[in-house]
Amino acid sequence: MDCKVLIVEDEETSRVCLTDMLELENYKVYTVAGGEEAKKLVEDVSPHIVLTDLKLLDMNGIEVIRAVKDISPKTICIVITGYATIETAVEAMKAGAFSYLKKPFRREELLVTLKKAQEVLAIQEENDSLKLKLQKQREQSILGTSPQIQTVRDIIKKVADTDSTVLILGESGTGKELVAKELHRQSSRSGNPFIPINCGAIPEELLESELFGYEKGAFTGAIATKIGRFEAADKGTVFLDEIGDMSVGLQVKILRVLQEREFERIGGRKSIKVDIRIIAATNQDLERAVAEKRFREDLYYRLNVIPISLPPLRERREDIPLLATHFLETISTKKNKKVTGIDPEAMKILEEYDWPGNVREMVNLIERLVVLKENGTITVDDLPASILKKKLTTSLEPFHLPTEGVDFNTAVDDFERKLIKIALHKADGVKKKAADFLNLNRTTLIEKMKRKGLLN
Ligand SMILES: Nc1ncnc2c1ncn2[C@@H]1O[C@H](COP(=O)(O)OP(=O)(O)OP(=O)(O)O)[C@@H](O)[C@H]1O
Ligand SMILES: [Mg+2]
Repeated sequence: MDCKVLIVEDEETSRVCLTDMLELENYKVYTVAGGEEAKKLVEDVSPHIVLTDLKLLDMNGIEVIRAVKDISPKTICIVITGYATIETAVEAMKAGAFSYLKKPFRREELLVTLKKAQEVLAIQEENDSLKLKLQKQREQSILGTSPQIQTVRDIIKKVADTDSTVLILGESGTGKELVAKELHRQSSRSGNPFIPINCGAIPEELLESELFGYEKGAFTGAIATKIGRFEAADKGTVFLDEIGDMSVGLQVKILRVLQEREFERIGGRKSIKVDIRIIAATNQDLERAVAEKRFREDLYYRLNVIPISLPPLRERREDIPLLATHFLETISTKKNKKVTGIDPEAMKILEEYDWPGNVREMVNLIERLVVLKENGTITVDDLPASILKKKLTTSLEPFHLPTEGVDFNTAVDDFERKLIKIALHKADGVKKKAADFLNLNRTTLIEKMKRKGLLN
């Protein structure tokens, strides 16, 4: 990077001499003769360093420093003067000068001072970039390091600032609304409204007037014109949540808005044009809904321009500790509690649990744990029975009897193996403990393991 140095000096010979000296050292040099000119130049080129004489015709060097710092606080100012007194030196430093050079000075003296200034600038810059990075990280709303979540974040980054319709798919509690908000936040529409519409929660008759608004007198009770949510969202984003629950009748009406960005208020004749970005979400299998004629095919294709699939938590277990710790910290702080962490054994159980309600279930569980615990560390004893119990039963996958039948002995043997393995895992490999889990004698367990080749 070129280091830009501005020389403020009313004496021409000094100016030329300094310029030659600095250009030889590869500085990019600008010169002006007075304070007013200096201000203008600082505004235009934001120099890294300003070298100013103390005595100028239109203002003194101290005033120049104040003006420069005012416009560009990070610019480093160095004062040069032939009339050095302690007082002026102190005054210059107070005004924000970095250093002070007494005329006549040697070339080396000037260059060393400039190098020091550059070092300070470099540290400043590194500091700024770290701060920015930290701020960005803090702003990171979709947490997770699993490849699936990274992919989701990548897609969001790519499509946020386009107007393409996005369809977010995922089981309940996987973060669909979070993704919709993030798409809006990272778009140039972020200064305009984000309007969520829960298509499942509002009854059909109401939904229509909610979405499109109505004209005065459109129906009994319509005493004044009301604008709908599509109109309210102009220049912003509409989030059609639970789109799979929308009635087929309303699906037709929505289709036109998606195609034309145009609609009429109920009871109105005039077409209203809106500039909106549409994001939809559902936890339903829309393709199946289409096959079963519960969802219009044309609407499905209109919505499914950019699909984003949110994987259930049990398919990205590596995200569980990170999320759990994050929620524990934020909820504990918010609720003024001093719950400091989750111990490894309890965390292991959370990692193995299947989370049918996904991240939302986790947020709720952690809130419950924090409120009940108040302080200290969460241990296995704090976990609710539902989580502990599910752990064992769900790890034994349900057994399906294939139509072609099975060999009874092999199937039973498989099942026993699985049981033993799970018990051993739960007991961290301690056979006595595993035997206790299975209500077997230790020797019986070892005998069985021997027979099954599980002893090594
Ligand atoms: N990756 C994530 N990082 C941080 N918080 C998350 C993440 N995913 C979900 N959450 C949080 O989990 C909760 C549920 O998320 P959200 O409401 O977006 O899910 P949803 O898929 O819309 O759920 P539902 O189907 O129940 O409406 C919210 O509090 C959200 O902030
Ligand atoms: Mg939701």
